[in-house]
Amino acid sequence: MADIEFIKNLSGHSGCGLKLYRSENMLFVRKDSGNPGYNRRLKKQCIKQQRFRLGGVKTPEVLGCGQKNGLFYFDMEFLNGVTLAEYMNCIKIKEINHLISLLFKSLPLASSQNNPRANKIFHNKIAGLRQSIGKTDALAAKALQKLEEYDYSNIPASYCCGDLTLENIILSEDKQVYLIDFLDSFYNSWMIDVAKLLQDLELRWSYRHSKIDFNLNMRLAVAREALIENISEFSDGCQMLLSIYHLLLLNVLRIYPYAKDAVTAEFLQNAVFRVLQIIADMENQK
Ligand SMILES: Nc1ncnc2c1ncn2[C@@H]1O[C@H](COP(=O)(O)OP(=O)(O)OP(=O)(O)O)[C@@H](O)[C@H]1O
Ligand SMILES: [Mg+2]
Repeated sequence: MADIEFIKNLSGHSGCGLKLYRSENMLFVRKDSGNPGYNRRLKKQCIKQQRFRLGGVKTPEVLGCGQKNGLFYFDMEFLNGVTLAEYMNCIKIKEINHLISLLFKSLPLASSQNNPRANKIFHNKIAGLRQSIGKTDALAAKALQKLEEYDYSNIPASYCCGDLTLENIILSEDKQVYLIDFLDSFYNSWMIDVAKLLQDLELRWSYRHSKIDFNLNMRLAVAREALIENISEFSDGCQMLLSIYHLLLLNVLRIYPYAKDAVTAEFLQNAVFRVLQIIADMENQK
């Protein structure tokens, strides 16, 4: 590659380095692993981004990869745009349905398949979680019990982005939807992606450190409704939703051991309480 000029750091939370560079008048983003222990995961992320194929949405083109100072890195196209987390502050209400439907319809529901090992994989994961959370927290214990009682046999296996939060969706200037920041999940299912979307639309995870005003709150609520509506169109939509909320509960509990600040710890408590309540309401309506 020709000479590259450092422009600025971009922000991320995962500990990965994200830097904007210019080379021959073209901007690009370099993402590095931050520490050698993360090299393997970032390499997988890079491969996942290169192989990404979902209709209707895109991902930044991977321009190259390598290793520098013991850290794996990859270079990708720079997107001139905003994250959906930011865009939700000003999105036109009538645009929300279209955007959420586009995202939902891009998920590989049609090619998903039943996995006979699904229930075992989930119960193993939950058993591991019980070990790391311990018995001190009564609410977490209640949530763990709820998760242990559920049957995960019907969670279909399919391609999964792995971390589909609003911060990992970018809208480019020309209104194209891009997904970034792919993760490998212990189980790959489009339902896990929907649960991650709900982590923001229902629980406001990406906004936990900021103030949510009336406008944003309303837009997030409309987006949540739109997502639920897309799922409810299926004949087994209620069952799908019940499974998705269990996946959301599992996701929130998985963050528990990593909560580093008081705001996140409080967020997680409230989130577990809320999701347990939603699940109880759904079960009562059955
Ligand atoms: N190709 C890109 N073009 C423009 N902006 C980007 C690009 N890649 C990342 N960003 C910006 O950097 C932010 C962090 O990127 P990314 O999500 O890949 O980092 P991370 O630290 O792995 O993630 P997280 O914060 O989700 O843990 C994004 O939300 C986005 O604002
Ligand atoms: Mg991210």
